[in-house]
Amino acid sequence: MSMKVDSYERAWLIIASFMISGFVGAILYTAGKHAVVPPSGIETIDPTTVRINSDFARPRVVRAADGSSQVIGISEMFRFEPSTIRVLVGKPVTFRLTSPDVVHGFQVVGTNANVMVIPGYVSTFTVTFPRTGEYLLVCNEYCGLSHHLMAGKVIVEEAS
Ligand code: CUA
Repeated sequence: MSMKVDSYERAWLIIASFMISGFVGAILYTAGKHAVVPPSGIETIDPTTVRINSDFARPRVVRAADGSSQVIGISEMFRFEPSTIRVLVGKPVTFRLTSPDVVHGFQVVGTNANVMVIPGYVSTFTVTFPRTGEYLLVCNEYCGLSHHLMAGKVIVEEAS
């Protein structure tokens, strides 16, 4: 039985193969050359003692002299701590988040801040909010009966 492949289909198969090779190659190259690793899930923490003896015992926003901020946050059933996060527009904000109970989501609606918060791990990422405003912070991973009530806000303000 001979295979009949349309010439267009063959051409696209070849193009697709080259593209896939290119993508995989790009991943391997950056992984090897620049030691690219997933953005979170590297730093581990004991979820049972998160509230007692860790940096997360006191959830807070720390603002540096240059205007950048660090958010040390906890996501738990069914709230965010701190529940109101004030940061400066155009300045980097580094979030360090963990959970003492179950998996939660941490999404700042209308921005590209969106991670999973997993007990046992610290999710770390940095974003710079380009526009001022009050943004809704929601949990987007089902975490229990009051999941839909789990919300907070991120206030991005002008430096005064
Ligand atoms: Cu926390 Cu859903």
